[in-house]
Amino acid sequence: MFSGGPIPLAPQAFGYNRQHFFMTRPMTQDELKQAVARAALDYVIDGEIIGVGTGSTANFFIDALGPVKHRIKGAVASSDATAARLRSHGIEVFDLNAVERMAVYIDGADEITASGAMIKGGGAALTREKIVASVAQKFVCIADGSKLVTMLGAFPLPVEVIPMARAVVARKLTQLGGQPRLRTKDGQPVLTDNGCEILDVTGLKIHDPKALEVQFNAIVGVVTVGLFAQRGADIALLGTVDGVQTLKF
Ligand code: 5RP
Repeated sequence: MFSGGPIPLAPQAFGYNRQHFFMTRPMTQDELKQAVARAALDYVIDGEIIGVGTGSTANFFIDALGPVKHRIKGAVASSDATAARLRSHGIEVFDLNAVERMAVYIDGADEITASGAMIKGGGAALTREKIVASVAQKFVCIADGSKLVTMLGAFPLPVEVIPMARAVVARKLTQLGGQPRLRTKDGQPVLTDNGCEILDVTGLKIHDPKALEVQFNAIVGVVTVGLFAQRGADIALLGTVDGVQTLKF
């Protein structure tokens, strides 16, 4: 009766307190993330090594994977944090250099379009995410429905830079119409797992994500731009109040 709709709150017996019976609340963002994380288990190939992304949605996926870890040989992690979480569930973590092929890579996104182009890197793991994803045959993006956008760029575009190149890259990004800002935490630059810094770029209207990815990646001193368009998602599982929606690209 309620399948696909909002979750009923504490249903009471019919005829008693009907008002409470029909009270509903929307699923929280975390519940939507958990729903897509569970749905992603259907894309895990038995006996294989899988690639695993970084962030809160990826963490929910790792937690869902834990109880069925016997299904896989192990995982390649896109960050030190993901590696630690995988290990905490007893899942073997493989060095990417020891892995030639990977059937699937599962990760979240900060924004995704209806054609599968994404902004990623809100969790500062963009470079390793892009590297691990490049080895996978299939990229499954898991996200709550709020991440689906018509045009990328409302979320600040992360650009990982070599620290000594921060200023020169920032000037070039400004010339290209963006407003770069160094990502900091507690007054200090955020350092990626690669020891690099991140410029978050606002003010961009990203009409052609593939072209901008190539253009920004070509700036000397840039390690990786957080546009995943040249190699976008193959499948997106989006959490909505109507259930998990699947987009195929
Ligand atoms: C980390 C990422 C994440 O996938 C992205 O930031 C989404 O995070 P979350 O699942 O916490 O919303 O790209 O670098």
